[in-house]
Amino acid sequence: HAAAQVLVASNRGPVTYTLSEDGSLDARRGGGGLVSGLSAIGSEAEALWVCAALGDGDREAVRRGVGEPGVLMLDIDEAVHSDAYNGIANSVLWFVHHMLYQTPLEPVFDKEFRRQWASYETYNRAFAEALAAQAAEGAAVLVQDYHLALVPGMLRELRPDLRIGHFSHTPWAPVDYFRMLPDDIAEQLLRGLLGADRTCFLTRRWADAFVSCCTELLGGTGGTAIGVHGLGADADFLRKRAHRPDVDERLAALREQIGPGRKTIVRVDRTELSKNIVRGLLAYRQLLETRPEWRERVVHVAFAYPSRQDLAVYRDYTVEVQRVADEINSAYGTEGWTPVVLHVKDDFARSLAAYRLADVALVNPIRDGMNLVAKEIPLVSEAGCALVLSREAGAHEELGEDAVTVNPYDVSGTADALHAALTMPDDERSRHTERLATAATALPPQKWFLDQLRALREGA
Ligand code: G6P
Repeated sequence: HAAAQVLVASNRGPVTYTLSEDGSLDARRGGGGLVSGLSAIGSEAEALWVCAALGDGDREAVRRGVGEPGVLMLDIDEAVHSDAYNGIANSVLWFVHHMLYQTPLEPVFDKEFRRQWASYETYNRAFAEALAAQAAEGAAVLVQDYHLALVPGMLRELRPDLRIGHFSHTPWAPVDYFRMLPDDIAEQLLRGLLGADRTCFLTRRWADAFVSCCTELLGGTGGTAIGVHGLGADADFLRKRAHRPDVDERLAALREQIGPGRKTIVRVDRTELSKNIVRGLLAYRQLLETRPEWRERVVHVAFAYPSRQDLAVYRDYTVEVQRVADEINSAYGTEGWTPVVLHVKDDFARSLAAYRLADVALVNPIRDGMNLVAKEIPLVSEAGCALVLSREAGAHEELGEDAVTVNPYDVSGTADALHAALTMPDDERSRHTERLATAATALPPQKWFLDQLRALREGA
């Protein structure tokens, strides 16, 4: 066998490449909570991160043999990858676990679905085979997320000697919702994960949902251990990064855009259906409508970065976010005041600048595995910020006591919560911010990673 002692497998890797017009390749850090957590792998010797080539840039990098040390990018057939990633992972599994279907018309599990499912199997098999080829005898393999749900079972058959873990970065669907999937597919997914020695979740709630599915559909979880590992923010990295000159520059530009003496409500998300950006905007509009004293005195700084744009529903949602923001600006904006500052071009330094000036952080997802933004903003905000947080975010289990909790569907309730957060007395706000910062850093990514590795090796 090959030499890797610790292997990580995920669809999205730590870098993606973009091909510029002049033919050069630019490397960029991947987004999302998964990549944040896994960056701790860098400290492990003899580690290998197996991921998929995601676009033309990545494929070209593979062809040219360009890459990071310790990263193996799999150049899987483009059509197979698209069926697996867009068709199954993001349109079916993501929708099931985040409960995003509009059920009178969706989902439809027909012949086309079966065709895409076959690609999902092929794609999972490609990962299982690569891992089997690269892993040293008895190595630990940490398989990530819903893209690779079949890998643990497939890998177990190829290499019974390995210690296999799986981690879900998403919620897990309640059993009645999960059962929308055709029975054989639902079973295959559960058995895939149960092929691992340990299968892990971000919170107890998601772990319990998984166990209920196993109990109801399979009669139990077999010998697989179920783990719960919350993931926190990387305080040292963030605080340092947030004070680099590029962030200072963007902070100055944002201040200019916002205008002096105004409070800010900040949100930063992928433009993702589960993040509930539109209802957040509607709540803000209602705040301006029903409490006119806030007009000219507050700005909603909303960063909504493009995500999964191959999918029409995501493109439509992106348009809707822009439309509602424009509508608010034309209804309420004045000469010197733009009520919503919406930015859609992904810019990490500008996100950190927004974190620094947040008075209120708005994190109101419909459902979310954890949500790291909720943990990051209180760490970085300069004046201390009040956190408006959905009870449906995994982070709520850890941060709920120091947040203003909202039901994500309740727009009026969210408008009231924004008002409460904006008017929170200074001493109360600093007390909450301090406690939020402590809770947010209790589980640094390094620890998250090493705890799982230890548990997997010890057979705990
Ligand atoms: C979530 C998922 C990750 C994914 C990330 C970004 O955090 O749990 O697996 O990488 O979203 O989504 P994308 O489709 O761009 O990889």
